[in-house]
Amino acid sequence: MEKDHRQHAIVAEMDVGGDLVATDLHPHAFDFRLHFGCQARQMAASLTPGTAGMIPQSFWHGKSVVVTGGSSGIGRAAAVALGAAGARVGLVARRPVPLAETANAIRAAGGTVDVATCDVGDASGLAAAVAALESRLGTCDVAIASAGIHRTSWPLDATAASEVIDVNVKGCINLAAAVLPGMLARGRGRFCGVASLAGVVGLPGNAVYCASKAAVVAFLESLRLDAGPAGVVVTTVLPGVVDTPMITDAERRAGGVVSAEDAAATILRAIERGRPEIWFPRGTSLAAWLARGLPAVVRDAVLRRQPRLEEPPQAD
Ligand SMILES: NC(=O)c1ccc[n+]([C@@H]2O[C@H](COP(=O)([O-])OP(=O)(O)OC[C@H]3O[C@@H](n4cnc5c(N)ncnc54)[C@H](OP(=O)(O)O)[C@@H]3O)[C@@H](O)[C@H]2O)c1
Repeated sequence: MEKDHRQHAIVAEMDVGGDLVATDLHPHAFDFRLHFGCQARQMAASLTPGTAGMIPQSFWHGKSVVVTGGSSGIGRAAAVALGAAGARVGLVARRPVPLAETANAIRAAGGTVDVATCDVGDASGLAAAVAALESRLGTCDVAIASAGIHRTSWPLDATAASEVIDVNVKGCINLAAAVLPGMLARGRGRFCGVASLAGVVGLPGNAVYCASKAAVVAFLESLRLDAGPAGVVVTTVLPGVVDTPMITDAERRAGGVVSAEDAAATILRAIERGRPEIWFPRGTSLAAWLARGLPAVVRDAVLRRQPRLEEPPQAD
């Protein structure tokens, strides 16, 4: 097995009202082989819609959309799709070169785009970036918090942990703080945060990443209750493994990986439909949902069988 902290595999078998064989565990998700009958398939279908499809122009056309993490992966794919759908796209990330590449791709396809470089963990910097984009593209109709990082969580390192929390948690909150006052004042808007299925179940070696995504899930869940009645639709996105620079080759080879373009299409469709929450892909979502529902002692027993790259601490 490749020696990478994000390559995790468990070999576990359990019987959960059916014949469920769990084979691989990734930082973001599980890759279970399901031998359920059609009942389970229906259950999976109810958790998530399909992953590909056309984005109707009517919803996005002319809308001002801010996307953090627009220089790479899911954020980039969403930005390109938004540009093609006629949105006015504002991209935020730290690295100017990949940001410019994304912007050029959108312009080459005839789209409207502008960029702002900043660290999403810096609240005032992000607020200034959003204000600059709004002055050029119009007030923000939709904001998508996709910026995120992954760092190994074992052994625990306080500096690396702070970095993950700053980007994944504060980055999402800072974007909400920057765009929500305007949306609430106008009585309309959509806010979407890209969390992860890793925010639903704790995974070995990923304590800080899982914690950061659980925080995003909880933040958006609560935000929805406050902002929804005021006209702002909040969508929480929980992907499994998506083919972006964030994942390893070993994860790619393990299968069950969604392309960034399909992930983006699923996310944009969920925002458009005002979905409160979207889990994908189906198999991984079902596995995460089942694992979450297991008694902790059973869940731990299953997840502990995963090979570890670093040994857990030994009792004296
Ligand atoms: N890939 C997966 O399997 C997967 C699964 C579940 C959830 N997710 C989540 O999906 C989101 C997008 O991830 P991805 O897979 O598309 O990863 P990616 O390709 O590595 O993209 C991450 C993006 O975040 C930006 N970013 C990172 N730190 C930043 C900071 N401090 N300030 C501003 N921007 C920052 C990066 O741009 P710069 O480096 O230029 O700043 C980049 O555009 C993340 O929140 C991730 O946790 C991913």
